Amino acid sequence: MTIGIDKIGFATSQYVLNLEELAQARGQKIEKYTTGLMLDALSITPITEDIVTMAASAAQEILTEDDKANIDMVIIATESGIDQSKAASVYVHHLLDIQPFARSIEMKEACYAGTAGLNYAKLHVEKNPESKVLVIASDIAKYGIESAGESTQGAGAVAMLVTSNPRIATFLDDNVAQTRDIYDFWRPNYSTTPFVDGIYSTKQYLDSLKTTWAEYQKRHEAELSDFAAFCFHLPYPKLALKGLNKIMPKDMDNQAKNQLTDNFDLSIQYSRQVGNIYTGSLYLGLLSLLENSQTLKAGDKIGLFSYGSGAVSEIFSLQLVDGFKGMLRSDRMADLEKRRALSIGDYEKLFYEEADLTEDGSASFDTYATGDYALKSIQNHQRIYVRNEHD
Ligand code: CAA
Repeated sequence: MTIGIDKIGFATSQYVLNLEELAQARGQKIEKYTTGLMLDALSITPITEDIVTMAASAAQEILTEDDKANIDMVIIATESGIDQSKAASVYVHHLLDIQPFARSIEMKEACYAGTAGLNYAKLHVEKNPESKVLVIASDIAKYGIESAGESTQGAGAVAMLVTSNPRIATFLDDNVAQTRDIYDFWRPNYSTTPFVDGIYSTKQYLDSLKTTWAEYQKRHEAELSDFAAFCFHLPYPKLALKGLNKIMPKDMDNQAKNQLTDNFDLSIQYSRQVGNIYTGSLYLGLLSLLENSQTLKAGDKIGLFSYGSGAVSEIFSLQLVDGFKGMLRSDRMADLEKRRALSIGDYEKLFYEEADLTEDGSASFDTYATGDYALKSIQNHQRIYVRNEHD
C-alpha cells in the first residue's frame, strides 16, 4: 500500500497589493522586490477573511461528499491562530460538514507545522487504510507597516487530502528532521506581529538546509540529481533560490541542473503573486510546480525542504504517480489575476482594522469580498462564520 497526497486545493484573499504601489510608497526601487526578493504582489486579507475561512475555501475546492463522509481527521497547521484554546480545524470541520466521528486539531511550529501534519496523517492512514485525513496549512503573514518584512507578507491556505493509493504523489518515507533552539523569528502571545532578526533568519534557513541535506545524503546515499525538482519553504523566492544554489553540486551535469532550475522557476510562480503564506508556502510551491510543469512525469521524485523558524527543518520526498495531472487545475493564475488591487491607503486600512468589541464582546464588520466563507460577526466573543452564496 502506498500513502500520499490524493488532492491539493488552494485559497487566498480576494485583495492584492501590487509591489509597485509599495515600492512607490516606501521610496524603494521596484527591482529590490522583483529581483532582490523575487516577489511581484502580496495577498492582503480584510478582517472578514482569516485562517478558518481560507482553510475552508481551500478544502471546499477539492472535497466531494464521499471525501467528507470518509475523512476522520482534520489537521490545521498555522502560526496565525485565532484562539489559544479552540482549534481552527473544529470550525472547518463544521463548515465543511465532515462526518462527526473525526479528530480535529491544530498544530504549531512556525512555518514547519504543515509538514508535521502530513507526517501525522501518514501514520494514521498506515494504521487505517480506509481513512482520509485533511491537512490544511493556513496562515496570514503580517509583519508590520514599514517593517523590513513588510514586502514579504501574504495570506493563503493549502489543503491536502492524505489517503492510501493517492492519485498525485506518494510519500517515500525518507524524512530527516533537525531542531535548533534559536530566536530568528517569533511572536509572543502579547504581540500581533512577529519579532524578526531578518538577516540571522536567512542564515539559519540556509544553514539548516545545508546541514539537513548533508544528513539526508548520508542516510539515504542520495544525490541532488535523484530528483526531478526540489521545492523549498518560500518566505520569499529569492532565499529559496539561494538554497537551491547552495546544495547544487558544482560538477552537476547541465541537463540535470537545467531541469532543477526550470522546475524551481515553475515552483515559485504562485508565491511571486501571493507572498509568504508561512506554513503553506512550501506546499504552494509544490502546487505551482505540479500545475505548471509540462515535463514532470509519473515516477519522478520531488525533494522538499520545510523550514519553520525557532527552528525546525525537514527534508523528505514524494514520487509522482500515474495520472497526477488529471487531479490538478491548469487555470489557477486566472483566479489570482481576478483579485482586487489595493491602493496603499486601502491596504493600510485593512492592515490596521481590528474588531471593535462592545462590552459584551460583540462586533460586526463592513462587507468585504472573501472566498467561499466569511467571518460575519463576533457575538459574545464567539466567531460567527457563514458560507457565501456565489451565483
Ligand atoms: N535591485 C535589485 N536587487 C536589489 C535592489 C535593487 N535595486 N535593492 C536591493 N536588492 C537586493 C539586495 O541586494 C538583497 O539581495 P541579496 O540578499 O541577494 O543580497 C535583496 O534585494 C534584499 O535586500 P535587503 O537585504 O536590503 O532587504 P531588506 O532590508 O528588505 O531585508 C529581509 C530582507 C531581512 C529578508 C527582510 O525581508 C525580512 O526581514 N523578511 C522577513 C524574515 C524572513 O523572511 N526570513 C527568511 C528566513 S525565516 C523563514 O523562512 C520563516 C518565515 O517564513 C518567516
